[in-house]
Amino acid sequence: MENETHTVTCSAPVNIAVIKYWGKRDEELVLPVNSSLSVTLNQDQLRTVTTVSVSRKFQKDRIWVNNREESMENPRLKRLLAEVRRLTKEQGSMSGNGTRPPSHDCHMHICSENNFPTAAGLASSAAGYACLAYTLCQLYHLQVDVSLLARQGSGSACRSVYGGFVKWEMGEREDGSDSIAVQVAPESHWLELEVLILVVSSEKKAVSSTRGMQTTVKTSPLMKYRCETVVPQRMETMERAIVERDFPSFARLTMQDSNQFHAVCLDSYPPILYLNDTSKRVMQLVTAYNKLHQEERVAYTFDAGPNAVLYCLRETMSELISLVTHYFPPTPGNERNYIRGISSEDCRTDSD
Ligand code: DP6
Repeated sequence: MENETHTVTCSAPVNIAVIKYWGKRDEELVLPVNSSLSVTLNQDQLRTVTTVSVSRKFQKDRIWVNNREESMENPRLKRLLAEVRRLTKEQGSMSGNGTRPPSHDCHMHICSENNFPTAAGLASSAAGYACLAYTLCQLYHLQVDVSLLARQGSGSACRSVYGGFVKWEMGEREDGSDSIAVQVAPESHWLELEVLILVVSSEKKAVSSTRGMQTTVKTSPLMKYRCETVVPQRMETMERAIVERDFPSFARLTMQDSNQFHAVCLDSYPPILYLNDTSKRVMQLVTAYNKLHQEERVAYTFDAGPNAVLYCLRETMSELISLVTHYFPPTPGNERNYIRGISSEDCRTDSD
């Protein structure tokens, strides 16, 4: 028993926000200045797989991300592990099926892999921390809201805990106990909704989300208006558009919110620029396409990077792919520019 190794492997999906989270009111607890809402993507194409092993034989905690060992000195990672160990100690001994979880005082080895570019505005930290939080909860048999733990690793990670359409309620309490993710609708609610990702660049972004949003909160006058007036209203309208499967409204709000997020970035001082010329050409192409059809048939959204995420209904997808391939032909050596996927299920356990 003493030398036993406990291992759990889980996977988590990527989520792409349609109402963006940008800015914290509490850096330590990762509490946002506004609520946000996202669509969870298909795990077959975009996911993180994490294996955690715990053993008395291990000398120290270690982590590998995409086969490279990383430092354990990351404050968010340390905080998440400390919280998991605290809960394990507090909740103690047995799980429902009578098996004993590993002890809180053993070291762990964490191995995490993405099947998509890391830190290129493709929400890799979201899937990564959601996966780690979920895997740890499975391993230690924790009875806790996984989104609450995932949030402390990376804000957007809390929304990757669930499939389908997910909102992160900003909450009001100082301890963050009501700042959690809630599923608005499961993926089965709107199976016709599809997503196409254009990987414009897989390079690491120049300004991290964490640092970028700090600058915006400190310096952007437009940000106050966004948090207090715009987002609360948009959250309601977006939730209604999803419930009613109203694509034109969903698309319009998605594009408006992406535009405003990049506007507050530009309004920051020094300014933060995540979009490049290709991103802007994608915006123009989508705008022209919608104008031609006299309604919103495609929506674009961009996170903290130049990659475009396009939403459309299934009936539009083949035309959209032809259009995109025509205007943005895949470059040699980078043929996997297009990733197609639909919203999918929750975090899952792959094996014990
Ligand atoms: C633009 O969740 O990466 O993707 O909480 O500091 O880790 P931290 O930031 P992160 O920010 C994501 C910002 C965004 C919008 C969103 O996903 O809602």
